[in-house]
Amino acid sequence: MPLTLLLLFPMLSPALAWLPVEDWESGNVTTSGGGLECVCSVFLPDSSFPANRVQHMQQVTTDLRLEVQIQINKLVHYEGKLDIFLAELKDLTVRVAMLESSPDSYIKLDFELLRIELREFEALVSQLKDSLNSSSPMLDGLYTEIHNMTIIVNQLETFDKNNLEVSRIEFAKLQRKLEECQKEQEWIKPDIGNCNHTGIVSVSKPTVIQLNAHLNPGYQYGGWGKDSKPVRGHESVHWYGAYSRPSVYEFYLYSNYDKLIQRSSFTHHGLPQGYEGTGNNYVVHGNTIYYQAANPFRMSKLNLTSSVYSHRQITKASERFTYTYSPNQYLDFSADEKGLWVMYATEEAMGKIVIAKIDEKSFGIEDEWTTSAFKPLAGNAFMVCGVMYAARPGALNTEEIYYSYDTKTREEKHMSIPLQKFQERFVNLHYNPTDQRLYMYNDGYYVSYNVRFNRK
Ligand SMILES: *[C@@H]1O[C@H](CO)[C@@H](O)[C@H](O)[C@H]1NC(C)=O
Ligand SMILES: *[C@@H]1O[C@H](CO)[C@@H](O)[C@H](O)[C@H]1NC(C)=O
Ligand SMILES: *[C@@H]1O[C@H](CO)[C@@H](O)[C@H](O)[C@H]1NC(C)=O
Ligand SMILES: *[C@@H]1O[C@H](CO)[C@@H](O)[C@H](O)[C@H]1NC(C)=O
Ligand SMILES: *[C@@H]1O[C@H](CO)[C@@H](O)[C@H](O)[C@H]1NC(C)=O
Repeated sequence: MPLTLLLLFPMLSPALAWLPVEDWESGNVTTSGGGLECVCSVFLPDSSFPANRVQHMQQVTTDLRLEVQIQINKLVHYEGKLDIFLAELKDLTVRVAMLESSPDSYIKLDFELLRIELREFEALVSQLKDSLNSSSPMLDGLYTEIHNMTIIVNQLETFDKNNLEVSRIEFAKLQRKLEECQKEQEWIKPDIGNCNHTGIVSVSKPTVIQLNAHLNPGYQYGGWGKDSKPVRGHESVHWYGAYSRPSVYEFYLYSNYDKLIQRSSFTHHGLPQGYEGTGNNYVVHGNTIYYQAANPFRMSKLNLTSSVYSHRQITKASERFTYTYSPNQYLDFSADEKGLWVMYATEEAMGKIVIAKIDEKSFGIEDEWTTSAFKPLAGNAFMVCGVMYAARPGALNTEEIYYSYDTKTREEKHMSIPLQKFQERFVNLHYNPTDQRLYMYNDGYYVSYNVRFNRK
């Protein structure tokens, strides 16, 4: 894409454009029939805290103070007691304000104490009323206000119980269920790093489905995953990047899976002008993002430790052959138990996928293998234990892993392993050797799979 076009579409700030209703349900974990199926979207409700009620309570408290002041002027002999009363009311106001500013400390508040104090105010006002010979509309009002405040406090407590505490507990329960569900789905306990198998025999149903962090289904071009060779101190870093076009402008990093699910990134990297990427087959490996630079066309990496960019031209890689679902996908990065790879089609191979091993130290190509998978017919490809697997569109919302190429034996195989998709199109599919899972960016949604190997 020409640079001028890139400039017309500057980096978007995260926009909350559209929010599907199901995304805000408290979540669901279902089990069905023979196979176990996890289709989970678990969210903490964002704003269940009844801020408007607290605001009202604050207003009421302020009104109370004014009224009490008026009463003070009238009832001089009660001054001493009223001073204390006023100080207590002020303290209450401060605490109510605190409720509003930090919902977290709110659940730790002692509602019983609040209620006792309100009862004391009520008694005080009764005393004041009794001491007056004629009934005072002011004091009657004060009495009602305090009574109302008690009701509000009780309601707040109900809100707390129903909306905050309970949803947090439910959230934790759901997450545990989800984990159990995912564990059960791993038919065979994953044997991380072990390549003593004869390849993939099947792939689970999709296990993580969530709309991207921008909450924008229009962000169809992107990717997500987990660092496949994490550095010390960043063991479970997850990443995400997306845009409404194949252009690559930014990446978000999350310290772990939970943070990704909660859309709470610890850092964000915007690619500076001239460093933008395209195609979406990037991965994070060794705290470094490997992606395809747009202009000039080359493979690029951004070292997140040093913030240094490096580039390498791959002269053979053609800009004519892309995967089925998206333009511009010329370089497809992949990491497995054997290291880092990049796949591209060449003119020489007439559009067939060529596998290249990347030497991480020099950022150069170590070796190359030409497969017989014609790239434009493939949806995507990924490496597992030095074996390339190619997928192609199957029946509705199903992708078929149909071809493999072993770089060690140069052996090709044909197969038919179904891969259920959530949406039809996807732009980033890769394997992660640290958890033996497949990660897919499925038309704006995060989708992942467990992989089952044929153990020898
Ligand atoms: C969870 O699934 C069950 C069964 O399909 C359904 O009745 C229930 O409404 C779902 N709950 C949520 C929160 O999606
Ligand atoms: C209330 O009335 C009694 C007698 O009628 C009087 O002695 C007292 O001072 C009054 N109190 C007030 C606060 O006006
Ligand atoms: C106190 O509560 C009653 C009943 O809900 C309501 O009619 C009244 O307006 C409230 N008073 C104030 C000052 O908010
Ligand atoms: C691979 O698995 C087979 C069968 O379990 C076992 O006999 C063999 O020793 C294993 N090889 C390695 C290198 O672990
Ligand atoms: C990234 O930078 C750090 C610090 O300079 C260096 O130790 C590391 O080897 C680099 N990693 C890659 C993949 O270039």
